[in-house]
Amino acid sequence: DTSKVDAMKKAHQLAASTYHSIFMFTEEGSPGRVYAQERYFTEAQIEHFKIGYALDEWETLAKVLEQNEFDLTIMEEAGLVAKRKTSGYYDLFRNRLIFPISDNNGDIVGFGGRIVGEGQPKYLNSPETPIYQKAKTLFHMFEARPIIRKKNKAYLFEGALDVMAAWKAGIENAVATLGTALSQDHAKLLRRNAEDVILCYDGDKAGREAIRKTIPVLENVGCQIQVCLLPDGYDPDDYVKEFGEEALKAYLEEELLSVMAFKMYDAKQTKNLQNEGERLKYIEDMLEAIARLESIEQEHYLKQLSNEFNLSFQVLHQEMMRKERKAT
Ligand code: UTP
Ligand code: MN
Ligand code: MN
Ligand code: MN
Ligand code: MN
Repeated sequence: DTSKVDAMKKAHQLAASTYHSIFMFTEEGSPGRVYAQERYFTEAQIEHFKIGYALDEWETLAKVLEQNEFDLTIMEEAGLVAKRKTSGYYDLFRNRLIFPISDNNGDIVGFGGRIVGEGQPKYLNSPETPIYQKAKTLFHMFEARPIIRKKNKAYLFEGALDVMAAWKAGIENAVATLGTALSQDHAKLLRRNAEDVILCYDGDKAGREAIRKTIPVLENVGCQIQVCLLPDGYDPDDYVKEFGEEALKAYLEEELLSVMAFKMYDAKQTKNLQNEGERLKYIEDMLEAIARLESIEQEHYLKQLSNEFNLSFQVLHQEMMRKERKAT
């Protein structure tokens, strides 16, 4: 009901400003500041993303909420505190850098929390609650929406820190799923605000796997997709740390692959094309993917395959047409 939702949202607003004030102004908040420095956060980032710090204590937020007369059973349902086995409540977020998550109206509905230093779990996000529906919420969408609309283009990253790294490099039209799979509602939300989507997940096996799964979801809502494959072992945050902001910006703007080029690259990673059987399988797979493209693109990639493997365009074309008929 509305009064509960209202209380949850007000509490998140209070929690966000509590975490942010602790980070900015308190003595005890210094571990958060030291860690933010280690990760090269700028003042502008801290302000734009309203970064905070949750102390390494059990009842900081619980007490603040109680003092402000919030019903702690509702706060538990909101994912801010948890109930003790004995009695009372303790904070969910402890010793973490805190990133507020806004819903599509700009209300803070959850938090991402990165452990300061080592510890498990590395990332803790708010649970699914009446106000935080993960399948409908993209990190930084509310804040980035005006610029996403203006550019008609959005970058999609895995993590909050990746969005922040891109933002520091001047790419402000960026959002993240925060470690969950892109849902159909996420895709629709993107498509309502932009036609072009640049998929930029981590440069590792998990990232490439996630790209594979995300492409059809975005295709289904009519997005024009490009893939930005980061070097092996890098995410945008690692990249900016090592090569700098200019380099990340250039990479995100220039190193873009079409979906088909990504599929070719991706399929090659898992195959030894010196082996005849695997080479033929690769060509078959690519013809199947080409069969789903528009005719101009079909011609382009058929020519590419024909040149690469020294096969006749006509034969490839026939075989692709056969696959196209089979698919429809
Ligand atoms: P990663 O596992 O790639 O984090 O998760 P990372 O880049 O190594 O983390 P750092 O750089 O050491 O801090 C990618 C992103 O997915 C989200 C986080 O936002 C993270 O940045 N994530 C991941 C979660 O929200 N929950 C998880 O359990 C895992
Ligand atoms: Mn990763
Ligand atoms: Mn990462
Ligand atoms: Mn990272
Ligand atoms: Mn890492």
